[in-house]
Amino acid sequence: MCGIVGYVGPEQAAPILLDGLRRLEYRGYDSAGLAVRGEGSIDVVRAVGKLRKLEGALRERPLPGRVGIGHTRWATHGRPSEVNAHPHVAGPVVVVHNGIIENHNELRERLVAAGCDVVSDTDTELVAHLVHLALKEEPSLEAAVRKTLSELHGAYAIAVLREDEPERIVVAKSASPLVLGVAEGEAYCASDIPALLPYTRDMIFLEDGEMAVLEAGEVRISTVAGEAVEREPEHIDWSPVMAEKAGFKHFMLKEIFEQPRAIEDTLRGRLDREGGDINGSELGLSDGDAAEVQRVVLLACGTSHHAALAGRYFIEQLAQVPAVVELASEFRGRNAVVGPGDLVVAVSQSGETLDTLVAAKEAKARGAKVLAVANVIGSAIPRMADAVFYTHAGPEIGVASTKCFTAQLVNLLLLALWLGRRKGTLPPEESRRLVEELARIPVLMKDTLQGTRQLVANLARRYLDARDVLFLGRGLSFPMALEGALKLKEISYVHAEGYAAGEMKHGPIALIDSRVPVIVLCPADSSYDRSLSNLEEAKARDARVIAIATEGDERARTASHDLVEVPAVDEVLTPLLTVLPLQLYAYYVADFKGTDVDQPRNLAKTVTVE
Ligand code: M6R
Repeated sequence: MCGIVGYVGPEQAAPILLDGLRRLEYRGYDSAGLAVRGEGSIDVVRAVGKLRKLEGALRERPLPGRVGIGHTRWATHGRPSEVNAHPHVAGPVVVVHNGIIENHNELRERLVAAGCDVVSDTDTELVAHLVHLALKEEPSLEAAVRKTLSELHGAYAIAVLREDEPERIVVAKSASPLVLGVAEGEAYCASDIPALLPYTRDMIFLEDGEMAVLEAGEVRISTVAGEAVEREPEHIDWSPVMAEKAGFKHFMLKEIFEQPRAIEDTLRGRLDREGGDINGSELGLSDGDAAEVQRVVLLACGTSHHAALAGRYFIEQLAQVPAVVELASEFRGRNAVVGPGDLVVAVSQSGETLDTLVAAKEAKARGAKVLAVANVIGSAIPRMADAVFYTHAGPEIGVASTKCFTAQLVNLLLLALWLGRRKGTLPPEESRRLVEELARIPVLMKDTLQGTRQLVANLARRYLDARDVLFLGRGLSFPMALEGALKLKEISYVHAEGYAAGEMKHGPIALIDSRVPVIVLCPADSSYDRSLSNLEEAKARDARVIAIATEGDERARTASHDLVEVPAVDEVLTPLLTVLPLQLYAYYVADFKGTDVDQPRNLAKTVTVE
């Protein structure tokens, strides 16, 4: 996620901005830049890569001045490059931005038609041009930013400088975070608290739909509509480490709770709610491509492989196109039968996993079309693919994947909906209903996380000494059972198995006794009755049985020892909710055992080796 810092006061701005950006490094970034108001002009320095590259550039071109803005960029529109790095300039206006402007295509067309020289691929540069144009009619930067905001759809936190108003920064926020810092004779802004902690602990949290004018020692807040807002600063006494994790004990827990936001960002601008369709422009595939698809082959490793297993289900159900899932490590080098007519979907959070990369390259060499589903913009798999459909979960720091997993599920569901509409297998009214339900998912995820957290923590404590744990599920709950088991294994080092519930009687049932907790995913879906009888079979063999079921399910409550309830949703959406208590369970077992939750032993976040 991008990071923003701004400063106005009596000190030199550049060192404060650089220090603030360093304290936001944990958010992840691929390029960085500063803009400082010097003598008569605003000067900009940007660099691709780590902050030391920017520091090197600043040694060659120092930026003296007492007002400035800085940015670390996590690419969302356009590859990591110097021209795409922030700050962006249009005439006398300089902008940094965190978020995604949904109507960027339409704005770009309009601005180019109006003669603006748009040089980058970013949505942010468009904001700079809009403010510049608005200044032709508006008397001040504040008024021009206000006018511009009325033209933006999407998520943003912006900080804007103007050459002719040298002592001022104008900021605004909608959906992306922005905090203001106040101190004697100084004012600050930043994407997150840690950037400001060494300078001030008195902070004001800007709300959505608000903007502010920052001057030395003064912060003036108003709504975008122009009403003044009075808000006292809050005193923040977090340590810097607590602040990076937003008060959570580990990055993994923070990322689990970030999922509603990650899904909202991944859905942003992609749902056509009226038409009950998916806005295909981001998918990089045309209607002609959809017509050519005869089979979908999903390739992935680890957690991404579990998302791919759910993806097969989505594609078969909604688009009725044959779909197969392959572990990328088993696909590559096997001479697998793949070629024209196959859409190969390479699913990878990092976009760099070697097995997935090699497997996708092999498929491409045989004539298949490759679509990458990745979270890291410009990574290796998107670069070699014919088309890319990014998840917008933001950087994931915990080695155990959580928010990127649910974002992958969402992207694969969107792909299936898109394909289903184009193949004529998904009636518009059915698709409209699913699109509406999908739009509600972030809220339901939030409710589920808040509603189950304490109960799941208690269960983790109760079964802390279990040496083995079984996870069972059918249909879409089967890959979630696999994911629940993988999460538990990788961070708590407890042996766990995920099984298709129907397979239990073919072997694993022999493992069950009173020492084995069995977690059964049995939401109200087409397999419900059969899943519940598997739960009863496990209970009859003395297992402690935990059911993950739909709210109000009295049968599951009576049949199980412990019940974790999730809201009722359409069957295809159930994994987005049922997996949440499983992530929390793994987290709390690991935390209570005192393992290194964010950096589990023997594991790397990105596996680029054989
Ligand atoms: O970056 P990728 O999605 O390609 O990574 C694949 C696996 O290495 C990854 O999902 C791994 O299994 C995670 N540690 C799971 O939490």
